[in-house]
Amino acid sequence: MTRLVALLLLSLLVACAEKDDSVEATPEAVPEPVAASEPAIDPVTGFKMTGDWELVRGNCTACHSAKLITQQRGTSEQWLAMIRWMQKKQNLWQFDPGTEGRIIAYLAENYPPDAARRRAPIPPDLMPPNPYSSSN
Ligand code: HEC
Repeated sequence: MTRLVALLLLSLLVACAEKDDSVEATPEAVPEPVAASEPAIDPVTGFKMTGDWELVRGNCTACHSAKLITQQRGTSEQWLAMIRWMQKKQNLWQFDPGTEGRIIAYLAENYPPDAARRRAPIPPDLMPPNPYSSSN
């Protein structure tokens, strides 16, 4: 009887050890490879390190964080409008047309308009009562 119990315990131990081995070897444990087409991200600015990114870093991060740029999206026209606004209101310097074209091409290519990035507004009936409402 004691021998049988000992044998059972032993086989249980062996089974556990085998199980541990198999967990380590599961393919899920291997990290997903990053898509080869995605450019690397500069750890300092967060810019996609492709094309004229260093020109953009050199001209666009003197006054504010690069985050202000990487969180923004736009067409060439929209990026140009932002640059014109900064030149008019925020003391941004003038660019020669070649430099400006390259900056805008980088921005429009890497930070183009995309699908809705904000959550949908909360429906009015789910909102708490507004204590400052003028209609009551
Ligand atoms: C001379 C200083 C200066 C430089 C250089 C500069 N900016 Fe700005 N930018 C500003 C200021 C000031 C603001 C407003 C910041 C704020 O609202 O807090 C701003 C705001 C922005 C915004 C936010 C606009 C919005 O609607 O919220 C973006 C995007 C931006 N800049 C992109 C750029 C890009 C791209 C470049 C390079 C071509 C650049 N900036 C270079 C001064 C500058």
